[in-house]
Amino acid sequence: MNPSLAPDVSATAPQKTSASLTLIDHPLVQHKLSLMRRKDASTSTFRTLLNELSMLMAYEVTRDMPMQTIEIETPLETMQAKVIDGKKLVFVSILRAGNGILEGMLSVVPGARVGHVGLYRDPSTLEAVEYYFKMPQGMQERDIIVVDPMLATGNSAIAAIDRLKKLNPKSIKFVCLLTCPEGIAALQAAHPDVPIFTAAIDRQLNDHGYILPGLGDAGDRIFGTQ
Ligand code: URA
Repeated sequence: MNPSLAPDVSATAPQKTSASLTLIDHPLVQHKLSLMRRKDASTSTFRTLLNELSMLMAYEVTRDMPMQTIEIETPLETMQAKVIDGKKLVFVSILRAGNGILEGMLSVVPGARVGHVGLYRDPSTLEAVEYYFKMPQGMQERDIIVVDPMLATGNSAIAAIDRLKKLNPKSIKFVCLLTCPEGIAALQAAHPDVPIFTAAIDRQLNDHGYILPGLGDAGDRIFGTQ
């Protein structure tokens, strides 16, 4: 086959770049992310795109969700059909930008429960400081998907996962829109057992803990607070 006509495999399947890092490089995801990065994207455009992207990322991150078989009646006969138990899943949003991902994820898994972790970055140390933590009951039986658009220094994700592990959940995954080598290294060093899903791995962090080229402050862009 003419090499220029060969399908670009990297664009057809999420790329598992290591045991615990999955780059979701589907063309729809990449296209929407590029539109979001533009500094002239309005708050409403940014939010709409984030919502759409979250649905697409939910599709990948739930790919290995456990299923059960139940008996159902089609108009023609009885059959054994597979269903997921969405109630076992908890989306944990790292406030406040994580909330931008929740709506899209919940539209795909409406039965999921939701937890919130409030952390702010100390501007001088960039360390995460917890101010809020509220989870559903029975976390030992639940699979957790932690959501935060940006995995930058990794401090918030690490602190949130430290706290969540104390509840002994069945599993934890982390989903972000954008990350950088520093964020991946920090999270993988602290929690090598937690798979990371991201739509992009950018070049680097700047001195203020922002990802370059990035998309700016995700919370400000979602909520129009700039
Ligand atoms: N948080 C953001 O909102 N943006 C970054 O680039 C890094 C952390």
